[in-house]
Amino acid sequence: MSEIVRIDLAERSYDIHVAPGLLARAGKLISQEVTGPVPLVTDENVAGLYLDQLMTTLKGERIDARPIVLPPGEATKSFPGLERLVGAILRTGADRGSVVVALGGGVIGDVAGLAAALVKRGMGYVQIPTTLLAQVDSSVGGKTAINTTEGKNLVGLFHQPKLVVVDTDLLRTLPRRDLLSGYAEVVKYGVMGDATFFDGLEQSGIKALSGEGNGMATAVVHSCRIKAAIVTRDEREFGERALLNLGHTFGHALEAATGFSDRLLHGEAVAIGLALALALSVKLGLCPREDLLRVLRHLRAVGLPGSIDEISGKRPSADEIIRHMKHDKKTRGGRMTFILVRRIGEAFQAYDVEENLVRELLTD
Ligand SMILES: NC(=O)c1ccc[n+]([C@@H]2O[C@H](COP(=O)([O-])OP(=O)(O)OC[C@H]3O[C@@H](n4cnc5c(N)ncnc54)[C@H](O)[C@@H]3O)[C@@H](O)[C@H]2O)c1
Ligand SMILES: [Zn+2]
Repeated sequence: MSEIVRIDLAERSYDIHVAPGLLARAGKLISQEVTGPVPLVTDENVAGLYLDQLMTTLKGERIDARPIVLPPGEATKSFPGLERLVGAILRTGADRGSVVVALGGGVIGDVAGLAAALVKRGMGYVQIPTTLLAQVDSSVGGKTAINTTEGKNLVGLFHQPKLVVVDTDLLRTLPRRDLLSGYAEVVKYGVMGDATFFDGLEQSGIKALSGEGNGMATAVVHSCRIKAAIVTRDEREFGERALLNLGHTFGHALEAATGFSDRLLHGEAVAIGLALALALSVKLGLCPREDLLRVLRHLRAVGLPGSIDEISGKRPSADEIIRHMKHDKKTRGGRMTFILVRRIGEAFQAYDVEENLVRELLTD
């Protein structure tokens, strides 16, 4: 199975290639984008697993790749991390004919994409996402960012990659918790905009997660298609792209309230955020309760959390969560924006939700 999803953005258009085993053939795809030396950015964990394989296929195409191996973890997505990376890219002798290759999860993709956007006023880059989250979400759509002490992803640029190479076999080495965390984004796509896709996940999501058959590759392709369609219509998030933040207003606040720590991975926060967005929709009388229950059942069936009580340690208070929500970069004029759901497969933006209702929901 090999699929191509096109992101249609005039001169910034590119293809996402998805296939099991694709890493071994990545050299050929990348060779079409490069003339100079290639800074190859990855993290220590991913380097140990996949760097040799990528170097071999690049060498096979006579590509002069220069590995830059960064420490794994969010701390790499920071000004100090970016400064070190930009220096390392410049020292490879990269010119504007070079492309930066990002081999890793969302952390590597985000910081390498931002570095590529900045060096020499903009180099091309190629994403080779190695986590499920990166394959279905962060490698697609051109958002790049680092974190600052003021918050996550607050400094960044839109910079579309030239190519995305997705090898779903790489997910086999991903820790179960990271795999599930990425799966929360897959569920999000169904709840947001495709009821039939959600039905399919209910039926075969568990099997796909177990790595049996090509269920995971199919889910990745479908998720990329949903995101591609939205990014094509609204690249810079003036409107519709905000729907992709379903579950994220609550999710980001929960991540902030738990200190962006191992207590709660991004996708786990999104899973709880999805449940809360549906619960808020039900509370407002906008969505049938059965839809909330279905989503909760599926999250629990695969092993994802669906409520704040499932977070280990001290329960974040409603006030704390609301304070963080008001801080979100999607906030405009101090009002919290929510993505709500009319039914599974139909999300919409709401600007006028009363804070009291949200407080009640978070206290229940
Ligand atoms: N740009 C966007 O649109 C966008 C969207 C969503 C999330 N993000 C960002 O993505 C980041 C999270 O990404 P992530 O969840 O991929 O985390 P990550 O990049 O930190 O990867 C998670 C862990 O898995 C390891 N790993 C990666 N691939 C592996 C593999 N195949 N086998 C074994 N281990 C592997 C990594 O070394 C790391 O320890 C966050 O910083 C978030 O803000 C960006
Ligand atoms: Zn997300």
